[in-house]
Amino acid sequence: MAVDLLLGLQWGDEGKGKIVDVLTSKYNIIARFQGGPNAGHTLVFNGTKHVLHTIPSGIFHKKAINLVGNGVVIDPVIFKKELDKLSLHKVDYQKSLVISRKAHLILPTHRLLDAASEASKGKAKIGSTLKGIGPTYMDKTGRNGIRVGDLELDSWKEKYRALANKHESMVSFYDVDLEYDLNELEVEFFEAINVLKSLTFIDSEDYLYQAQRAGKSILAEGAQGSLLDVDFGTYPFVTSSNTTAAGACTGLGIAPNVIGKVYGIFKAYTTRVGSGPFPTELFDKDGETMGRVGNEFGATTGRSRRCGWLDLVALKYACQVNGVTELMMMKADVLSGFKSLKICTAYKHKGEIIYHFPFNVEVHNVSPIYTDFEGWDEDLTKMSNESTLPKSLNAYINFIEKELQIPIKLVSVGPDRKQTIFR
Ligand code: GDP
Ligand code: IMO
Ligand code: MG
Repeated sequence: MAVDLLLGLQWGDEGKGKIVDVLTSKYNIIARFQGGPNAGHTLVFNGTKHVLHTIPSGIFHKKAINLVGNGVVIDPVIFKKELDKLSLHKVDYQKSLVISRKAHLILPTHRLLDAASEASKGKAKIGSTLKGIGPTYMDKTGRNGIRVGDLELDSWKEKYRALANKHESMVSFYDVDLEYDLNELEVEFFEAINVLKSLTFIDSEDYLYQAQRAGKSILAEGAQGSLLDVDFGTYPFVTSSNTTAAGACTGLGIAPNVIGKVYGIFKAYTTRVGSGPFPTELFDKDGETMGRVGNEFGATTGRSRRCGWLDLVALKYACQVNGVTELMMMKADVLSGFKSLKICTAYKHKGEIIYHFPFNVEVHNVSPIYTDFEGWDEDLTKMSNESTLPKSLNAYINFIEKELQIPIKLVSVGPDRKQTIFR
């Protein structure tokens, strides 16, 4: 059976967690392929909100296996906290959660390096979640990292010590004040490692190959969004992994020719948390309304998210890079009550009108060209059928579908699992 992918098409927080949860009943395996605890995936059902960072969003379904792939970076301390929360909700994760031996570990000193690097950048900081993501992927590609499978070897603590010592000397290289107590950080780290070791470690690429050959259905869950991809995003204001479709191949060991559907998730408007260019960003009342109604605060850091109109130039680019086959539009309910809406359909770039996402999308290079749309007043949050959607929302949806030439198969009208309309 084919492996389907689910990816964010903007700057993250599109609502991936909600949709993976909604789709899990159709799949045997949910597999996270990149990122780490920089992600915050929110699920809401039965009146309770859950936020997952590293654990795949299918974990609340009894039958599915949830797999943390080799492309993911794991902070044992945060991972343990996630497991503790799952225990409170009686999730039998010992049975339903498996981890790739090839996934890399985030050490306490990776977090320190992240903090030192950001502090040293001053105004040019990335706006990182400071979870140690960049330094851990740097150690992975620099061939210094420690992997989950290393924990099964006696020698891993020596390797740990050598790497942590090296990190400490690197931290001191930065000209910043960073107060920390490594001994204290290591106590919780080693405790968390013991918890991690109680879980099932697997050779995940073989596991997925066999599962796929045996006809099991697999959904690959992305983290972040395409515009934060280290190659295709707004570099250097990106994360350190490939968040796009290719990342699912390298982050799980699946071949490109087994990929089936590519679900692309986007918000009906745009948000971004952290620094970096954002051509359609609003600094007015409309932006403020989106943030307030959409409750746009980061699920991992609590920072307020920057808000703006939908950017079709960027969305088209993300659809191309990922080969999106089906779109899912999130948070349509947040746009209720706007008299008129705008969609960016082109950029003015160095005096010319362009329709592609250029190398430089900074504000001084690019200004958005908008098409206007009529708004709608209806409250969508209790709607469950496509036929009840307001006429102007249908016009908004039809325009996007026509521009992107990809069907919008799902419209989300609230955070709850049930507030989901299939088309
Ligand atoms: P993810 O990182 O892509 O999983 O998204 P986040 O969980 O970080 O952010 C999405 C936020 O929007 C969460 O607070 C969700 O509960 C919420 N959400 C998801 N879908 C909808 C929707 O259709 N309408 C509204 N109002 N909120 C939604
Ligand atoms: P989910 O999976 C939104 C952003 C950070 C920062 C940049 C680099 O919930 O959509 P990093 O910690 O990776 O060094 O941060 O990327 N960022 C996210 N923004 N959603 C996320 O994940 C993000 N993960 C990282 O804010 O700008
Ligand atoms: Mg999020």
